[in-house]
Amino acid sequence: NFDNPLRPRSLAEYIGQEQAKQNLAVFIQAARQRDEALDHVLFYGPPGLGKTTLAHIIASEMGVNIKSTSGPVIEKAGDLAAILTNLEQGDVLFIDEIHRLSPVVEEILYPAMEDYQIDILIGQGPSARTIKLDLPRFTLVGATTRAGLLSSPLRDRFGVISRLQFYTHEELAVIVRRSADILQVAIDSEGALEIARRSRGTPRIANRLLRRVRDFAQVGSDGHIDRAIADRALLRLEVDRRGFDHMDSLLLQSLIDKFAGGPVGLDTLAAAIGEEKDTIEEVIEPYLLQQGYISRTPRGRMATALAYQHFHRPLPSQAGQNA
Ligand code: ADE
Repeated sequence: NFDNPLRPRSLAEYIGQEQAKQNLAVFIQAARQRDEALDHVLFYGPPGLGKTTLAHIIASEMGVNIKSTSGPVIEKAGDLAAILTNLEQGDVLFIDEIHRLSPVVEEILYPAMEDYQIDILIGQGPSARTIKLDLPRFTLVGATTRAGLLSSPLRDRFGVISRLQFYTHEELAVIVRRSADILQVAIDSEGALEIARRSRGTPRIANRLLRRVRDFAQVGSDGHIDRAIADRALLRLEVDRRGFDHMDSLLLQSLIDKFAGGPVGLDTLAAAIGEEKDTIEEVIEPYLLQQGYISRTPRGRMATALAYQHFHRPLPSQAGQNA
């Protein structure tokens, strides 16, 4: 999936995540000057913010190969051993959803990350023994939605831990214009900003919405995207003025209408809206929290005054007061 033409290929092309980007630029330059592999890097944050893209950019800026896999795909210790022993000096090994590695596989990773060695068990029963294999110096790039999902021994073995943030509307508008350029679709700055505002701070969503808005512009109009076309298309896609989609609205309205604004526990909320707890915590909630539509209290989630206003509900006297 890295053939996606909208993905930036270098740090210079990459828009946003300024702090992560500037720090990475230093670490990459320093490692290159010393002719060493880059230290292991962990990216965490909500989906669609560029973790995979940055892993590819690291490999490209370091001038090395990248091998990509993901936590749930590596079933046995031997699967990971096979991948590790096939790496070349300096290569990047990208493990997406690294929090989903099984404990036995994680055990292999510790000495691999720390000492560039793996212990391989050969034989069975009383004659079984382990042999140590040396690995080339490599860079592990891990990605996860929340750093807290990793075991601490694994987290502690990353030299660089980088939290990706939601993008500002302005950054997303630049990304939308860049993508429109690549897709050769005409868009004005108001049209780009409208898509940007309604993309939940997330480039992956912005690029998906751009493609869909392009469809509406092409079929219902002259192909040119302006603010009116974007607005009409996004309403038809059920993306509201703040960029909330069906699940966002369902969650917020349930909080308000079924639970009197909360506080309500995650289990109860998950059952009420028919969504996985993990999806709520890792995909839906982060943006609502960041935008201030919900708050998390020790007793559960609450809708804030902003949420009431957004859905035109009369404000209860205590709404959002415990935020
Ligand atoms: N496309 C997706 N994410 C991007 C980013 N951060 N910068 C530029 N183009 C992008």
